[in-house]
Amino acid sequence: MKKKKMHFAQFVMHGPTYHSLAMWRHPETRRDLPWDRPELYQHIAKVCERGKLDMVFFADLSFISDAFQKSLAPALRCATQAPMHDPMPLLSWMGAVTDTIGLAATFSISHHHPFYAARVWASIDHLTRGRAAWNIVTSVNHNESNNYGEDALLEHDLRYDRAEEFMEVCKKLWNSWDEDAVRADREAGIFADPEKVHRLDHEGRFFRCRGPLTVTRSPQVGPALIQAGASPKGRAFAARHAEAIFAINHFAEGAADYYADIKNRMENEGRNPDHCKILFGVQPIIAKTETEARDKQALHNELVPDEGGLAILSSHMDYDLSKLELDDVMQPIALPGLQSMAEMYSRTAGKKLTLREVAKMHGESVSLPQFVGTSEQVADQLEAYFDTVGGDGFMLSATHSPGAIEEFVDLVIPELQKRGRFRTEYAGKTQREHLLQE
Ligand SMILES: Cc1cc2nc3c(=O)[nH]c(=O)nc-3n(C[C@H](O)[C@H](O)[C@H](O)COP(=O)(O)O)c2cc1C
Repeated sequence: MKKKKMHFAQFVMHGPTYHSLAMWRHPETRRDLPWDRPELYQHIAKVCERGKLDMVFFADLSFISDAFQKSLAPALRCATQAPMHDPMPLLSWMGAVTDTIGLAATFSISHHHPFYAARVWASIDHLTRGRAAWNIVTSVNHNESNNYGEDALLEHDLRYDRAEEFMEVCKKLWNSWDEDAVRADREAGIFADPEKVHRLDHEGRFFRCRGPLTVTRSPQVGPALIQAGASPKGRAFAARHAEAIFAINHFAEGAADYYADIKNRMENEGRNPDHCKILFGVQPIIAKTETEARDKQALHNELVPDEGGLAILSSHMDYDLSKLELDDVMQPIALPGLQSMAEMYSRTAGKKLTLREVAKMHGESVSLPQFVGTSEQVADQLEAYFDTVGGDGFMLSATHSPGAIEEFVDLVIPELQKRGRFRTEYAGKTQREHLLQE
């Protein structure tokens, strides 16, 4: 039987750390291409295009967490996914020096009107000639609302109801210019055909919008759509709209359940389940020999400060972990998120852990499994996970940058190509075509 091919996205953030809090001070992280210069991201885009990856994908957060000890100090000292510059302007920089690689960014809908979102994304889709992808998030942290002058986040399910209408308005706006609306007929003096540009006059529960969009129909009719959210409402939203999903499941069995659930939901929505690629996060650590790779992993993990781990885990749990006992072996705890996190890391470590140890592991990879070894061994681990799940691919997160991305592209990609598990050429030019390529 023909083996299914993998899809790959490269995870990045416009900041000094991603899922690894060691990244900014890792000895291999180059100083001549710092995280706050656009040249770094142009370089990453070119490397990923050389590797024929589906996309470079930016996560994004608009707050610095004070969840641990009710202080910003730990997050600032340890750069726990902060600072975080806006990724959107970088997509144009990266698009300017590449031809084919998809360019994705997270853009929260919680603090904007759909008209602005539709306009900026259609513009980026034009600028990149159909390579834009939007990771739609509803925001998860009250600090973010406070930064936008709101006291609290909308209640969870209401956020997704609002998101549903948000997407309805965006999709109508992207379609408000017909394909042949622009005539640019110099002789006749007609730029656009007024019959082919439509108002919306949308009056909904959350939004009003007259339309049409001020941006002409973009190459992909708006960007490709990505989603990341795990609740039943989040999954339902993804099943209706997403063409790719970023998911985290430390173990392949859990990933298989999630995968089957989303594909089922898509079928129930009348969608082809192949039309949304679920990409599971992994953190590869590659070297010439297994021993070298293990040493590299140890060096990386030792660089993660305990304080950073506690700060990022507190932020993700939205709970101040300094209120709990840090150094005794953890006992069952009535915080469900933390309990499952502790069980997951204990299983990986092969022993019971203290809360400080759990937090430290969280600072190493934020729940992404570390795939460690030679290029063949990492390819084996990817294949084993992929075949247990049934598809579709991975979101790669780096331990150092630049550097780790090059290692993956130059060492693991050729190995997977040799095994017939990854494309050797792009079949199309747009983000959507990459995601649909077999
Ligand atoms: C793997 C993953 C990645 C996420 N990345 C981001 C992000 O970059 N920015 C953000 O604001 N929210 C991010 N989120 C939060 C989600 O968009 C969503 O708001 C949150 O998970 C709550 O929805 P849920 O209850 O459906 O999971 C992420 C969530 C997951 C599961």
